Amino acid sequence: MDKREMLYEGKAKQIYAVEDERYFIMTYKDEATAFDGAKKGIIKNKGIVNNRISCLLFKMLEEQGVETHLVNQIDERNVIVKRLQMLPVEVVVRNVAAGSLSKRLGIEEGKELPVPIVELFLKNDELHDPMINECHARVFGWATKEQLEDIQARGLKINEILTQFFDSIGIILVDFKLEFGIFEGRIVLGDEISPDSCRLWDKVSLEKLDKDRFRRNMGGEAEAYQEVVRRIEKVLG
Ligand code: TMP
Repeated sequence: MDKREMLYEGKAKQIYAVEDERYFIMTYKDEATAFDGAKKGIIKNKGIVNNRISCLLFKMLEEQGVETHLVNQIDERNVIVKRLQMLPVEVVVRNVAAGSLSKRLGIEEGKELPVPIVELFLKNDELHDPMINECHARVFGWATKEQLEDIQARGLKINEILTQFFDSIGIILVDFKLEFGIFEGRIVLGDEISPDSCRLWDKVSLEKLDKDRFRRNMGGEAEAYQEVVRRIEKVLG
């Protein structure tokens, strides 16, 4: 399947049309941004690592009954995916307080949550992806009641699968963000699951192995991403 015209370029990926209108090719870049593009940089080989990690995790999720957009990884940076009609609502699942939750509610970073918290955000860079609730999503037509129930339940199921998996490779899944879309009338998991979209802490040292190293100018992000893919490939590769 060959790339045709580029349909969309995001901050970390490009989307290309292919001959078969049921699919896209997604191309992962090394560009990294934070704070809605205000901070820009390159994380060496991030595109290669995130494509690999996302493909391996999506394949594992598929094997456990979660439909994803993954069709086939073509090469290091390219993957064939189903052409989803994306919902503009992002689902964040949290197991440990961190990031915007800690900031917004004054909860100490690192505090374990007794049950996972699910949050919804509107995908809109200009508005800085504001947090929304189900009423906002329904009233303004971003998702229906059924879709909201579905994506939140899926978020929790994916959390169970991923938490257990990351634990088995010595990593705490602190939180992560999911995006869903519609394919042939079904809700399907899209976008990526990678150190860009998750907080991953080493279980023993609590060292950050994710994009917070870039967001917080800590350095060592390329190495951290490599460490995550190395551990995942040992089990799933
Ligand atoms: P937050 O604590 O900043 O709201 O982030 C929650 C999770 O969502 C975290 O794992 C990182 C991920 N995330 C994205 O994937 N994209 C984003 O633009 C932001 C802000 C967070």
